[in-house]
Amino acid sequence: MKRKNIAIVTGASSGMGKEFVLQLPDYCTKIDEIWVIARREDRLNALAKKSHVKLVPIIMDLQNNKDYDKLKEKLKSEKINIRFLINSAGFGVHGYFEEQKENEVFGMVDLNCSALTKITHLCLPYMGTNARIINMASSAAFFPQKRFAVYAASKSYVLSFSRALNVETKDRKVYVTAVCPGPVDTEFFKKDNCDINKTFYKRIVMAKPEKVVSLALRDSAQKKELSIYGSMMNAFYMTTKLIPHRILLFITKFFL
Ligand SMILES: NC(=O)c1ccc[n+]([C@@H]2O[C@H](COP(=O)([O-])OP(=O)(O)OC[C@H]3O[C@@H](n4cnc5c(N)ncnc54)[C@H](OP(=O)(O)O)[C@@H]3O)[C@@H](O)[C@H]2O)c1
Repeated sequence: MKRKNIAIVTGASSGMGKEFVLQLPDYCTKIDEIWVIARREDRLNALAKKSHVKLVPIIMDLQNNKDYDKLKEKLKSEKINIRFLINSAGFGVHGYFEEQKENEVFGMVDLNCSALTKITHLCLPYMGTNARIINMASSAAFFPQKRFAVYAASKSYVLSFSRALNVETKDRKVYVTAVCPGPVDTEFFKKDNCDINKTFYKRIVMAKPEKVVSLALRDSAQKKELSIYGSMMNAFYMTTKLIPHRILLFITKFFL
């Protein structure tokens, strides 16, 4: 039997994960199935109705170790070739570290860092020549941030891990892209209760998920290690390269 070409997308039930599922078939016509991972089954089923490619919902809480057995078994039992792995599941909570709840703090580390690493480790053996990994980092990865300390640190992990992995897997032609957008208009901010929703800042920097995802897929096709949407975020990236972080931390003390 011929191996099936598949894509795996975590965080597929909303925001950018969902958008990746919808746009992927336009960028890669050779995909037979997309395995979509999230906790909300109703959302994944609704997405399956919209997709032009067969979707296979895998209901998993990526913060629960036991749930990984499902995916492990499925990977072992089917003849597959993973052409795309997209790690989009993640969340962020603003606030002073000391005031944050334990489940928020460790949840961000578990989901943004551990889950992404576990899924990548599980899937990599099934990825062949020309496969792609797209990891959702964030512009928060560029430098430490007051009142977003754990989230920014978790995304720095994703960025650093993705760049190193990209070098490690280059010889076998598996290419890794870290996606680092600024604020994107998804459910992310609704959960966080962040006041960005009311600000002028939102209106000028908030990006549309379709555009961030479309650029990420184009950058991944071009084997770029970084995908940064928008001129403001590209300028922000350069600033964090040129100005010492202790100075940036001092400046942002006044408005973050
Ligand atoms: N929005 C932004 O401004 C922004 C900016 C930069 C980077 N990012 C990053 O981009 C990625 C996607 O964010 P988004 O904006 O699309 O957010 P979103 O709309 O809130 O989507 C988050 C996704 O993660 C899934 N998820 C959350 N906890 C999970 C768990 N324990 N197990 C399995 N799945 C889980 C959710 O599905 P279920 O709830 O159904 O499980 C959902 O599909 C995240 O990694 C985020 O950190 C976002």
